[in-house]
Amino acid sequence: MPMIRLDKFISERTEFSRSQIKQLTAKGAVSVNGNTVKKSDLKIDPDTDSVSVQGRLLSGDKHKYILLNKPQGYVSSTESTEGPSVLELIPPEIRTKGMFPAGRLDKDSIGALLITDDGELAHRMLSPKSHIPKIYIVKLARPYESKYVDIFKKGIKLADGETCLPAEVKSSEYCDKLAFVQLYEGKYHQVKRMFAAVGNHVEILMRFSLGSLVLPEKLALGECMELLHKDVENLFVQPVFERICADFPEVFSANLINI
Ligand code: URA
Repeated sequence: MPMIRLDKFISERTEFSRSQIKQLTAKGAVSVNGNTVKKSDLKIDPDTDSVSVQGRLLSGDKHKYILLNKPQGYVSSTESTEGPSVLELIPPEIRTKGMFPAGRLDKDSIGALLITDDGELAHRMLSPKSHIPKIYIVKLARPYESKYVDIFKKGIKLADGETCLPAEVKSSEYCDKLAFVQLYEGKYHQVKRMFAAVGNHVEILMRFSLGSLVLPEKLALGECMELLHKDVENLFVQPVFERICADFPEVFSANLINI
């Protein structure tokens, strides 16, 4: 790996500007391999050198990947025009310049949302050809009906005539108004429109997984966590729908019922 400047390395991983980094370095707040350094134009090897700023070790990876359990009321956009942006939920110490939500959840939807500054990965994930399966759980206004299985499997026609790709749906043992759905595409308000097309109504929608990347039980609404490289790769691993539904935490079902 070619050597790069220390200030470039830090600015790609934090919200500090080059001039702030210069000041922090001069003040002794930056260390490389445990030794305090005073010059921000020092050359480092991003693969082997470990860099800390104000005592916090920065990841050697160029990009950051954050999994957010999105609460209601936040918009999946970098701007806060139609409500607060989901980026406001990311603590400043893990937020970097150029972060954006890779994908969308409606303002009133909750659950798994990936936030990153890696445009290449987002493109790989969101390209219409990628068909990354996404599993949602919905709270319905009326009880789940077993007829949904065949209707969704055939590719349901929405009210405006648009046809969806085949999708899986499954009841929840927790409550007859909860149901799981697995989709391979992301049309506008798709889950809500699919249930509307079978005469039901989605009251709450939660996304539980993206590929095989599942929202951990410990991540409460509004909380986020940094992902490791191996977690990010799970995005491209085919999930087993039945298994993911079976592992859906009871605490999430209880929250959905009580929202
Ligand atoms: N489908 C919807 O209807 N809303 C979402 O937020 C995601 C999928």
